[in-house]
Amino acid sequence: MKTVELTKSKGLRGEVSPPPDKSISHRSIMFASMAEGKSIVRNFLRAEDPLSTIRAFRTLGIPITEVATGEITIEGKGLNGLTEPFDVIDCGNSGTTIRLISGLLAGNPFLSILTGDDSLKQRPMARVINPLKQMGALISARGGDKYPPLAIKGSALKAIDYTMPIASAQVKSCVIMAGLYADGTTTITEPQRSRDHTERMLSAMGAGIKVQDLSVSVKGNPKLHAVDVTVPADFSSAAFFIAGALLVPNSEIVIKDVGINQTRTGLLNVLADMGASIKIENMREISGEPIADIICSSAERLKAVKIAGDIVPSLIDEFPILCILASQADGVTEIRGAQELRVKESDRIKAMAIELAKLGVEVREYPDGIDINGNTNLKGGPVESYGDHRIAMSLSIAALIAQGTTVLNNASCADISFPGFYEKLKGLET
Ligand code: S3P
Repeated sequence: MKTVELTKSKGLRGEVSPPPDKSISHRSIMFASMAEGKSIVRNFLRAEDPLSTIRAFRTLGIPITEVATGEITIEGKGLNGLTEPFDVIDCGNSGTTIRLISGLLAGNPFLSILTGDDSLKQRPMARVINPLKQMGALISARGGDKYPPLAIKGSALKAIDYTMPIASAQVKSCVIMAGLYADGTTTITEPQRSRDHTERMLSAMGAGIKVQDLSVSVKGNPKLHAVDVTVPADFSSAAFFIAGALLVPNSEIVIKDVGINQTRTGLLNVLADMGASIKIENMREISGEPIADIICSSAERLKAVKIAGDIVPSLIDEFPILCILASQADGVTEIRGAQELRVKESDRIKAMAIELAKLGVEVREYPDGIDINGNTNLKGGPVESYGDHRIAMSLSIAALIAQGTTVLNNASCADISFPGFYEKLKGLET
């Protein structure tokens, strides 16, 4: 496994384009495969997770071609055009791939087996299996229907009204996918709003989607038409540069063409509460998603904050980097209501608690969150990514303000969402 050595930075300056959005890249392949006709996806994220989605849909008989770097064509075959896979579908490290396509495969009349890497095989699947079973799906999984591998024998599905116990875009999208195959209208209600890329893209393709407050309804058996999608830069990847610019003295970065869908940008609200001033310029829309340039420079000081409740899903992937920011704020930052972090690519509460402690930060771990003492001078040394891309990148930003050398073990997992991360970060060094 690759090890990366990082030292204190003198400043991060310049213009940077983060990689394309991971969530939107996955969905563009999935929905275009279910539509009728040829779709073109521009600025597709060529990283391990979305490539798992491309592999899965090729296995399901969909011709997908890369015509230029990051430009993909998909020959969609309609809702009922997928074919039985000849082999097990390997979803790699990708929770989005396995959870979303479970909903799709539940309505397709053939057998599919879904698996993934050792991390994915420990991630909870009952959250998608339960609603799918209520719809009449024939689905079983390892460990008493809890973990991958999953076996799905497609069957006729019935529409349901489903109230989700947790806010999750993956679960919501899975049930929406199954709802496309069900008779009648399926309604899904979330406790808090999670990212809405599925609703936006499927609506643009002609699906009967209605959103009201925390509920989404989807009509069964629509005809989806092909669309061309240009994927914005990923806010979750931009978050590492935002944090880097705020934390490293003498920094100013312009982060270009970033998706600023409000269901994703809770970190910006939290940073405003922490006293950071971040400029959003050049706001516009591409492919039904709002985008902008984000301009960010070194913060004089940051204030500790309390985070809990409705805002949590809108920054669910940004907690690891927020923990690094919190270590530099005045006071104690309290994070609660974030128990979902325990079932991400790693247990992100535990991982951050252990690694922050190694860097010299005082923390207290809770079942659903963490307290982080601020104003800490970080000490570099050996740190561990746990094979989790967002932990690896968060610790890399911490290293830029730590004394001495930080040696990040198992660093190559950044490729899951951000190939070339370390090189891009180095490119901003003054
Ligand atoms: C994602 C949803 C979130 C997020 C993940 C991507 C998506 O997961 O953490 O990185 O693309 O729908 P949950 O739905 O489990 O919260």
